[in-house]
Amino acid sequence: MNVRAIEKAFTILFSLENGLSTDKESAKRHLTDVKQMFADQEEAEARLKKENPLIYEFYDLGMPDAPGDLAFGTSITYPGKIGDEYFMTKGHFHGILETAEVYFCFQGQGIMMMENPEGEWDFQCLAPGKAVYVPKRFAHRSINTGDTPFCTFFCFRADAGHDYKTIETKGFRKIVVDKNGEPTVVDNPRMVACGSCRLVRRIEKML
Ligand SMILES: [Fe+2]
Repeated sequence: MNVRAIEKAFTILFSLENGLSTDKESAKRHLTDVKQMFADQEEAEARLKKENPLIYEFYDLGMPDAPGDLAFGTSITYPGKIGDEYFMTKGHFHGILETAEVYFCFQGQGIMMMENPEGEWDFQCLAPGKAVYVPKRFAHRSINTGDTPFCTFFCFRADAGHDYKTIETKGFRKIVVDKNGEPTVVDNPRMVACGSCRLVRRIEKML
């Protein structure tokens, strides 16, 4: 538990152009850190033999994780694909499942993929100016469906915590791939539970 108290107001600058801050060091996730999340493992391995691209970065400001505090920062997911699957964040549940989160998009375009432990899933398309409310109990993952960095500002209850392990182990039941140039939500072929459902849902026109 981070018990450092924030006793004074403070500001931190995040660039509206690229989401980065010069005040703080970001946490970076390269392909080697997230390769197991992608459906096409052969393609991920082949790519790693050539390069190890930065997939996303985000800011953890180390806010006190006491009830009543807030954690916030920016998340930047870079454009690119592994096979036909877009670059994305690992995704996570909150350690305290009953906690929600808000993401506000200010650059690029992408999708927030969401799924709860009961297997319900949803996604929302984001573009600059759009905010998404991620309900409590829903794991969430940012996916860049554009060709520029997908930048969001997020805020959630600071004591919520993160559960990455469940997603690392089980994955999301839906993934987003490029089909003939269009972002398309499909079943995750690596999830046996989805094997009987072949429904492909096309994303309505992006903003
Ligand atoms: Fe979160």
